[in-house]
Amino acid sequence: MDLFEYQARDLFAKHDVPVLAGEVIDTPEAARAATERLGGKSVVKAQVKVGGRGKAGGVKLAGTADEAVEHATNILGMDIKGHTVHKVMIAETAPEIVEEYYVSFLLDRANRTFLSIASVEGGMEIEEVAATRPEAVAKTPIDANVGVTPEVARQIVEAANFPAEVADKVENVLVTLWKTFIEEDALLVEVNPLAKVASGDVIALDGKVSLDENAEFRQPEHEALQDKDAANPLEAAAKEKNLNYVKLDGEVGIIGNGAGLVMSTLDVVAYAGEAHGGVKPANFLDIGGGASAAVMANGLEIILGDPDVKSVFVNVFGGITACDEVANGIVQALQLLADKGEEVTKPLVVRLDGNNAELGRKILSDANHPLVQRVDTMDGAADKAAELAAAK
Ligand SMILES: Nc1ncnc2c1ncn2[C@@H]1O[C@H](COP(=O)(O)OP(=O)(O)O)[C@@H](O)[C@H]1O
Ligand SMILES: [Mg+2]
Repeated sequence: MDLFEYQARDLFAKHDVPVLAGEVIDTPEAARAATERLGGKSVVKAQVKVGGRGKAGGVKLAGTADEAVEHATNILGMDIKGHTVHKVMIAETAPEIVEEYYVSFLLDRANRTFLSIASVEGGMEIEEVAATRPEAVAKTPIDANVGVTPEVARQIVEAANFPAEVADKVENVLVTLWKTFIEEDALLVEVNPLAKVASGDVIALDGKVSLDENAEFRQPEHEALQDKDAANPLEAAAKEKNLNYVKLDGEVGIIGNGAGLVMSTLDVVAYAGEAHGGVKPANFLDIGGGASAAVMANGLEIILGDPDVKSVFVNVFGGITACDEVANGIVQALQLLADKGEEVTKPLVVRLDGNNAELGRKILSDANHPLVQRVDTMDGAADKAAELAAAK
């Protein structure tokens, strides 16, 4: 889960990374009082989960409260790389920036380690620096068992050639930033720019944090950081039911067991859909192994609740959970939904193969549900589901 800058700033502050004060607002007029609280000037910063806000005109210095209102008026509602600005941060203005550095810690999956990236040439052009002069960017692997001790921080400072007069302060930032990374279960913590200001202080002026959702169970406070406004309501409902669901923009609802099977089902449906006016998969939904009738019902409920869905393709390969159990699950799920007053009105194409396929197919035939059709090959079923979606 990626965080907004102001949320990253709050986590930094919690772990003693030096940051500036700021307040988040969502109306232009609120910029006035917030700026007055900061002494009459501020930086108005678009809060969107994408970089390059400065270059896009989403970060503006305001010398007066009136000016802050004017900037907030312009920035709220602005589109930055496809992200609409709903909130701005009114931040304290950094006193005269002398230099801008870059520091980050991240999980380096390819090398199965943590990595520190640091450069004395931070700021808005860091991507270009990394691309054209990689020697100006110091990459240091971090031993997970040691972490970033003051000694390790010193090595990073030396590798990146930080000037001697800021060495201690940058080391402190690295140690506290690492603490943020570990204690918050982050996958990335990035500060760009880490600014040296005229007084000699070093301050994190921008922050990017990505949290590891697999650690949610031991980070109860992170739930509050979720962007409820942006979450797709179907995805949110699926999450409540512990389903692996991702909303896509097509018309054929997909349910399958096993992520690999569902991924290939998406491909097959997209391909089959080309012959039917370009219909596409409406979602990814993996109900996993051992899918009970209740799980099948939950899955069907989410998919049928999607107004974009015109037909549903249930693609099951029986393994440990045999096809007869899945077939019973489908029949019971349809009954469960009917009992709840959510009668199914969209056609379902079911393909069952693998363990006990014959028995499973017989159960579906016997149930003889008017909206359920069986097609025994994956390609055939995908084609049928696409055809039904196109006909609607
Ligand atoms: N609080 C601040 N005070 C003064 N200047 C700032 C402040 N925050 C950002 N800036 C300046 O604006 C630039 C862009 O802001 P930043 O927060 O890094 O956004 P982005 O990386 O999305 O462009 C920074 O490199 C810095 O020079
Ligand atoms: Mg930045």
